[in-house]
Amino acid sequence: MLRAFLVWLQTQLGKGSGDLARSWSEALLESLNFWSLLEGTHLLALMLFAGTIFVVDLRLLGVTFRRTPVSVVSDRVLPLTVAGFTLAVVTGVALFYAKPLFYYHNIWFRLKLVLLAFALVNIAVFHVRVQRNRSDWDAAARPPFSARASAALSLSAWIVVISLGRLIAYDWFECGKPQPHFINVVESCAASEAGAVEKHAVSRLARAGA
Ligand code: HEM
Repeated sequence: MLRAFLVWLQTQLGKGSGDLARSWSEALLESLNFWSLLEGTHLLALMLFAGTIFVVDLRLLGVTFRRTPVSVVSDRVLPLTVAGFTLAVVTGVALFYAKPLFYYHNIWFRLKLVLLAFALVNIAVFHVRVQRNRSDWDAAARPPFSARASAALSLSAWIVVISLGRLIAYDWFECGKPQPHFINVVESCAASEAGAVEKHAVSRLARAGA
């Protein structure tokens, strides 16, 4: 169902008539500069986002700005974090739109979305539960364990999200290449155009031929 929607998005949406007609997705992918511009903007946006959220996380960990109340650091910095995040999501979705099926079957992209969801849940828990009694520890150089744990999880999750984003560009685990079974499963390769090739089956065939 989701894959069928992505096939339509990639190959049909916006397609005119005639042999050379391109869908909007294909036109975006083939554009000379637009895709690079989007990726550059995605990078700048996530630098703004990560740079500012790390400032808040390090304050919560009691590492930086120890003499400035947490609320002062958060109020100054978080509007920039929200702006960076919004731009990263908009440009990220636009990048995805250029190659929906490629990203759909990409293990790094899938893991990145899972970690992104985890990091967002961590933010929600922080706002709803951990921050409830902030006035008690706002000015403390070293906030309580729950706040420090939340900040440590946030820092780690965003570093992993950034690393997974970078790894998307590497084709080590592309569907159609001989892969361990679990990678074929995680990437839903059986449903992909390139198919699922089991590494152990290829090795067995090679041994039988030798
Ligand atoms: C704040 C959240 C995000 C962070 C920290 C992040 C991080 C990254 C990083 C580090 C890259 C690699 C850039 C490069 O090396 O050139 C990247 C690329 C990318 N991101 Fe994100 N991203 C975020 C949100 C999103 C979202 C919400 C989506 C889509 C739903 C998305 C889709 C993509 C795509 C499609 C690429 C291009 C990968 C490629 O083909 O090289 N990102 N992201």
